Amino acid sequence: MKKPAVFLDRDGTIIEDVGFIRDVAQVEFYPQTIAALRRLRDFVLFIVTNQSGIAKRLVTAAEAKTVNDYVVRHLAEAGVEIQEVYCCPHARDDRCECIKPNPYFPRLAERDHGIDLTRSFVVGDHPSDIQLAQAVGAEAVYVLTGHGQKHRAELQCENAIVAGIEQASERIVCLYAASMLRAGGVVALPTETVYGLGADASNEAAVRRVFSIKGRPANHPLIVHIGDTSNLTEWARTIPEAGLQLADRFWPGPLTLILPKGPRVSGVVTGGQDSVGLRVPNHPLALQLLREFRGGIAAPSANRFGLVSPTTAEHVRRDLGENVDFVLDGGACDVGVESTIIDLTSITPTILRPGGVTQESIEEVLGRRVPVVDVSEVRVSGQLKTHYAPRAAVVLTTAEALPQQAEKLREEGRRVRILSEDDIAPRELFASLRKADDEGVEVILVADPPNHGLGLAVTDRLLKAAAPRTPPE
Ligand code: TXA
Ligand code: MG
Repeated sequence: MKKPAVFLDRDGTIIEDVGFIRDVAQVEFYPQTIAALRRLRDFVLFIVTNQSGIAKRLVTAAEAKTVNDYVVRHLAEAGVEIQEVYCCPHARDDRCECIKPNPYFPRLAERDHGIDLTRSFVVGDHPSDIQLAQAVGAEAVYVLTGHGQKHRAELQCENAIVAGIEQASERIVCLYAASMLRAGGVVALPTETVYGLGADASNEAAVRRVFSIKGRPANHPLIVHIGDTSNLTEWARTIPEAGLQLADRFWPGPLTLILPKGPRVSGVVTGGQDSVGLRVPNHPLALQLLREFRGGIAAPSANRFGLVSPTTAEHVRRDLGENVDFVLDGGACDVGVESTIIDLTSITPTILRPGGVTQESIEEVLGRRVPVVDVSEVRVSGQLKTHYAPRAAVVLTTAEALPQQAEKLREEGRRVRILSEDDIAPRELFASLRKADDEGVEVILVADPPNHGLGLAVTDRLLKAAAPRTPPE
């Protein structure tokens, strides 16, 4: 399979453009460069640079090479691999074939490194970088650093323009993920709650793949993620006043509305139900992806069924690895627990799952009591099937009983971890459970889990993790 690449201009794109650079001491990386390029780990990276200073005898070829080698080494030390630096040493008058925007170097990459140019990107601060992309059927991204501002007016394509290398890398991963979704691929995406495992909600085959990758029963419905509230009517048949109020107040945000499904929503997505879960996630990359993609993205949390939800791209890679076509890395999730799910299909709204929006704030908006179904059920029945479970056993206790309990377990030779209040903060909860597993902990103890505000969601997840481990239906 041919690979996608990103062709990066050097001066004004990944390092400051300070004129002709003869010496490594003149190299100044943009502060965002390394993080931006790390996000492009699934692409083969090349630097393509016109160094006309060589032709003009302002820089020697050896000096240019030393600088390029330094740039490559500096990036490599930060974990960013540059496959090759392509350097044109000519001046425009030389009429060489390698000066940008001539497609010479991308064609070399295509030939020598198996690059698929039509799935590739060119990033630069000069109109010739845009033309280079166009010449090879790649996508252009124009940065306003370096000479970018100066030549901006010459550009035909406003939407290719971004502020700098950070935004360029964000645009690349979003465009790439959107094209994957269009092609029926499965893409992991960041949201403010947890990472989702997304597919085009209108592509049944793609949605079925999500179920199979996750190992999820076909009757468990997926949430459809949409770009903004105006799309709501495309998905829901009717929207009660309460739905509009909640959407208005909490979207984009960690709230999922269960509404009667519209005719275009596939039963594969809703697990055969006549209702659909909808939400507008509040994560800049998720929103950018949804804007690019335009459709709805059906996505459950990107973990294997019944296990702990992922709050970093690394969690997803470890859980699902090669099964996912692309992991869009948006850093650690801000909220850290899943969205609150509110059922609006009957007259009395009810919270089916406590999450990132508190019961109190929902009640405030609706001006009425809104019961939480799930947690109360757990409390009375105590026979909930396990979910969100780490390998280690989870035991909920009181601060009073904790020391003795821990002591006893340790005497029995069990490896015990006591989670502190900080460890179970919503943002940290799932990472703490995963960490305990990584470190071979056998029993996780939590004292007095919180029971109001966001703490309700935390306690809900802990109760589920502490529930008897029966195999999922
Ligand atoms: O924060 C979140 O909600 C994350 C991110 C990725 O958006 N998603 C998430 O999805 O947690 P998932 O599939 O792991 O959990 C969705 C829950 C399931 O328990 C499902 O049963 C419920 O939402 N759900 C979805 N559609 C429903 C429907 N039509 N009726 C009742 N429950 C529904
Ligand atoms: Mg430049």
